[in-house]
Amino acid sequence: MNYKDKLNLDKLPAHVAIIMDGNGRWAKQKGFLRASGHKEGTKAVRDTVEGCAEIGVKNLTLYAFSTENWNRPKLEVDTLMKLLVSSLKKEIKTLQDNNIRLNCIGNISNLPKKAKKELLDVIEKTSSNTRMTLTLALSYGSREEITSCFKQIAEKVSKRELSIEAIDESVINKHLYTQNLPDVDLLIRTSGEQRISNFLLWQIAYAELYFTKILWPDYRREDLFEAIYNYQNRERRFGKTSEQLS
Ligand code: FPP
Repeated sequence: MNYKDKLNLDKLPAHVAIIMDGNGRWAKQKGFLRASGHKEGTKAVRDTVEGCAEIGVKNLTLYAFSTENWNRPKLEVDTLMKLLVSSLKKEIKTLQDNNIRLNCIGNISNLPKKAKKELLDVIEKTSSNTRMTLTLALSYGSREEITSCFKQIAEKVSKRELSIEAIDESVINKHLYTQNLPDVDLLIRTSGEQRISNFLLWQIAYAELYFTKILWPDYRREDLFEAIYNYQNRERRFGKTSEQLS
């Protein structure tokens, strides 16, 4: 089925977030090393980013490396960091050509020097692009993000820069890594797992969840269009009744 032609471009999700999962299983099924699954995963990243830009999705966030992923074998962590650097170097042109701004969420002070430098460089060079924001979650964990948010707010209260009464959802939003992004409308996870894995816990409060069995290296823009088509055919009630909505 051609899902792209069936999409209502006036009702696109403002923010799509993806938990890219299944690189290791993809490699294992083929008898390859896990690293080749990650490498193949970069092709899926490229196609999905281009697919979002093609139809007009304004915000795409990819879970590239979690705070928990630091516990993987050193060789795998090093491979992922090297892939990040080589992908950034290779894809800056695609980002510029497509007017895409690169953004990052997570505790990037933990990244190796080279990866951090390359990342900040691409973020800076693409900072005035306006068609779409691509956010990479790197060394990201939602509980860590929320903890850091609490600390910043507590400090402001203790210094009397903020009153307790003034704390509301918008104040909390402003102290999260995602401060300039809209809430997630559609969260996709590949590989058949049905978990959130410490990803954007606050930001997915009203997101539609979509799980697919496709392993991340095999994921392509047509699969994304199918997920968005499915999203567009759901009724989002935000706590109201169907009758209230119509
Ligand atoms: C999950 O698969 C995937 C990751 C932990 C890393 C995702 C990274 C990439 C797609 C490549 C680099 C990304 C960028 C943005 C350049 P898994 O290893 O957990 O798979 P498994 O569950 O099958 O073992």
